[in-house]
Amino acid sequence: EKMIAVVPAAGVGSRMAADRPKQYLHIAGKTILEHTVARLLAHPSIDQVIVAISEQDPYFPQLPLANDPRVVRVNGGAERADSVFAGLAAIDDPNTWVLVHDAARPCLQLSDVDALIAGALASPYGAILAAPVRDTMKRGNGAGEIASTVDRSDLWHALTPQMFRAGTLTHALQQALEEGAVITDEASAMEHGQMAPQLVKGRADNLKVTQPEDLALAEFYLNKMMR
Ligand code: CTP
Ligand code: MG
Repeated sequence: EKMIAVVPAAGVGSRMAADRPKQYLHIAGKTILEHTVARLLAHPSIDQVIVAISEQDPYFPQLPLANDPRVVRVNGGAERADSVFAGLAAIDDPNTWVLVHDAARPCLQLSDVDALIAGALASPYGAILAAPVRDTMKRGNGAGEIASTVDRSDLWHALTPQMFRAGTLTHALQQALEEGAVITDEASAMEHGQMAPQLVKGRADNLKVTQPEDLALAEFYLNKMMR
């Protein structure tokens, strides 16, 4: 079964504070966005990638990706959820399986995509990659002191890709956005609609490049994967 990837890539990268949005920084030979899209297209089940790009973006048209027939560009929105929503709108068949994956996660391994697909196909409400938290978790009291230690036995970092039926996710996102819910990933829109996606354990090196110090780490992983 063929699946479509939606890649939100319309952020400005304020925490990276570089001279351009972080998805256009070069590491390990090409831009982060090119790495990310190439890894998705390398999976045998994925033959189309919808990228949400800021309307005024001058960088995307320079990339060979812009002329790849497997890559479809849509205009992103003000928030990540708006960008994802715009990508979903380009999918005709609501039964299509869609994998939403951050442009800023170039270190995705195909074995994780396999695990995610298996998890989503076996679940009524889709699935997400997630990593168990490693550190002891503290809740603060708002004044810089520890209020308590949080039980970490079932706490997870939500990663991407996150995989759902396109129609189900579109509906969930629409409802959550209308109702003003705080939506930081696709699963949170599903949760808002009382639907519980499956947690699929993914690799911890599937990091989101967020701050300057993440670049060297991502480059290290990418070089290791390409060897
Ligand atoms: N994103 C998007 N549209 C937005 C905001 C974010 O498509 N309006 C994308 C980013 O390009 C990124 C992914 O969502 O690939 C994850 O977001 P994040 O890591 O927060 O990226 P930025 O929003 O660009 O960074 P920052 O929050 O530091 O400004
Ligand atoms: Mg952001």
